[in-house]
Amino acid sequence: MRRHFVLHTPCALLAMALLAVAGNVAADGAPHAAADASTTTADAPARDDSLYRALGGEQGVATLVEALLQRVYADERIAFLFAEADRNNLARLIREQFCNESGGPCAYSGRSMAESHSGLGLKEKEFDAFVEDFIDAMEDARLPYRTQNRMLKIFAPMRPDILHK
Ligand code: HEM
Repeated sequence: MRRHFVLHTPCALLAMALLAVAGNVAADGAPHAAADASTTTADAPARDDSLYRALGGEQGVATLVEALLQRVYADERIAFLFAEADRNNLARLIREQFCNESGGPCAYSGRSMAESHSGLGLKEKEFDAFVEDFIDAMEDARLPYRTQNRMLKIFAPMRPDILHK
C-alpha cells in the first residue's frame, strides 16, 4: 500500500500512530468552552474552539504559519513551487484557514483547495514533503502531540483535493 506521508522523526511517527486513533479522542480533555458571547447567538450551539485555543489562539496560529512557511520556503524539494506565490497573502490565507478549521473566530476568504492548487500539478512526494514540514513546524511551535494530531486529522484528508491539479 502506498504510504501517504514520508516521516523521519520519532515524534512524527508517534504523531501519525496517534492520528489513526485520533477520531476517538475527546477534545483536549479540557472542559468544553462556555458559550462565547462574541461568536454565538442564543440559537446557535457554541462552536468548539478548543483546538484553536490549544494552538495558542491568534498569536499561536500566526507563529505556526510563520514556522510552516519558513520551513517550506527553505525546503529545496518544494520551494520552487512557491516561486510565483505572494508570501504575505499566502500567510494571511493560511492563518485564516487554520483559525477557521480549528474553531477560531475567523472566516476563510481564500479559494477552495482544488482551485488554489490547480496548475501546480502537485505530486505525492511533494505533498509528503509539505506534511513533513508541517509536522516540523508544529514541533518548532512546541505544540503537544495531541494538538498536532488534531491538526493532521483535519488537513490530511485534503490530499485528494490538492494532488495532480
Ligand atoms: C493540506 C495541505 C495544504 C493546505 C492546507 C494548503 C493551504 C493553502 C491555502 C489556504 C492557500 C491559499 C489559497 C488561495 O490562494 O486562495 C494555498 C495556496 C498555495 N499552496 Fe497550498 N496547501 C496545502 C498543500 C500544499 C502543497 C503540498 C503545496 C506544494 C508543495 C502547496 C503549494 C501552494 C502554493 C504554491 C499556493 C499558492 C497558489 C497561488 O498563489 O495561486 N500547498 N495553500
